[in-house]
Parts: sequence; C-alpha cells; structure tokens
Amino acid sequence: MELLSVPYADLSGSLRPQVQALLAMAFPDLEGDYYKGSVPDRIFICREDSQPVAHLAAYRRTAKADGKDCLIGMIGGVAVSPTHRRKGLSKLLIHEAHQFFLAERIGHSILFAFDPTIYASSGYELMMNPVKFIEAGEERQFVYRGSMIAHLDGSSWSVGLLDLQGEVV
Ligand SMILES: CC(C)(COP(=O)(O)OP(=O)(O)OC[C@H]1O[C@@H](n2cnc3c(N)ncnc32)[C@H](O)[C@@H]1OP(=O)(O)O)[C@@H](O)C(=O)NCCC(=O)NCCS
Repeated sequence: MELLSVPYADLSGSLRPQVQALLAMAFPDLEGDYYKGSVPDRIFICREDSQPVAHLAAYRRTAKADGKDCLIGMIGGVAVSPTHRRKGLSKLLIHEAHQFFLAERIGHSILFAFDPTIYASSGYELMMNPVKFIEAGEERQFVYRGSMIAHLDGSSWSVGLLDLQGEVV
C-alpha cells in the first residue's frame, strides 16, 4: 500500500479518472467532477496495485471566526473503497491531513460528517459554532448538524459565528 500526498495541480494522467471513479462509488449522488466546487490544496490517496482505494481532500480556508480572519483546515471527500473499509484507512488519511495542516500553521480542522462517530477517534467533536457559508450561490447560516472540529495545536477557539467565506466541502 502506497500513501500519496498530491497537490491538486499534480492530479493528472490515469490517477485523476481513477480517483473520480472511487469518489463516484463512495458518493452515489455525486454529479460530475468532485472538485468542481472548491479546489483542494492537497489530496491524500492510498493506492494498492496501482488503484486508489482511499481518498481525502484537504483545504486551507481563510475564514472569519467572530469577525476575525483566521486560517482553518477543512477536510472533505473522505472515501474508502468498499473492499478496504474498516481497516483504518480513513483514519490514516485524516492523520496525514492533520500533519499537513500543522506544517501550514493551521491549528483547527473542520469537517461535515454524515456519521460523526467515524471521526471521534481522530479527535473531532461536534462543533457548536453557527456556520455561514455559500450554497448554490446563496448565503446560508445555521448550526450545521454534523459539523465537527478537531483542535490540533491547542490554540484557542471561540464558539461564535464561523464564516467560511465560501462553500462547505
Ligand atoms: C466512512 C468511511 C470513509 C470510513 O472509512 P474506513 O477506512 O472504513 O474507516 P476506518 O477504518 O478508518 O475507521 C475509522 C473509525 O470509524 C469507525 N467506523 C468505520 N466504518 C464504520 C461503520 N460502517 N459503522 C460504524 N463505525 C465505523 C471505525 O470503527 C473507526 O472507529 P474507532 O477508531 O473508534 O475504532 C467509508 O466507510 C466510506 O468511504 N464510506 C462512503 C463514503 C462516506 O460516507 N464518506 C464520509 C463522508 S462524511
């Protein structure tokens, strides 16, 4: 099993359609290119026998927390091939994303979970902040069910309004 850490611009050749096929299998409602909404800063992939079997997209996002600019990490597209689930691969990729964020001096990572229990052992807890974001060109604001945060570096975090200044991933 290989672990790849790929800048978005380097996701090319046969890897790109292979990754899209993995994402289409994991997210049956997905229409078109997974990355069309927001372009990730780094993509983490587990590959076995030349085939991607697990994927995670990591995003650096300049947000506003309580009205102040802050850089946060966002995780999306966590997807593992059905044949490789329950082996710790999503957890491994989340760990890699956290190392990436810390190297970028990002102290907090958020994600939007279908099932929050998956992420508890990676340090995520439900996030109480109201979240402002853009969806289909419209601004929305509410406490997002399934929003989760991991505090990576011990820096402070307030539970005021978190303006993502863009789309959820
Ligand atoms: C959700 C998904 C990414 C999990 O990947 P995975 O590699 O099988 O997960 P891991 O083996 O790393 O497990 C991580 C934790 O979740 C738990 N978990 C994983 N799948 C689970 C399931 N189906 N039911 C209950 N718990 C589960 C594991 O027990 C582990 O918890 P622990 O560390 O407390 O023991 C994978 O099932 C998947 O791709 N699903 C379809 C796409 C999807 O829903 N993505 C998530 C979008 S938010």
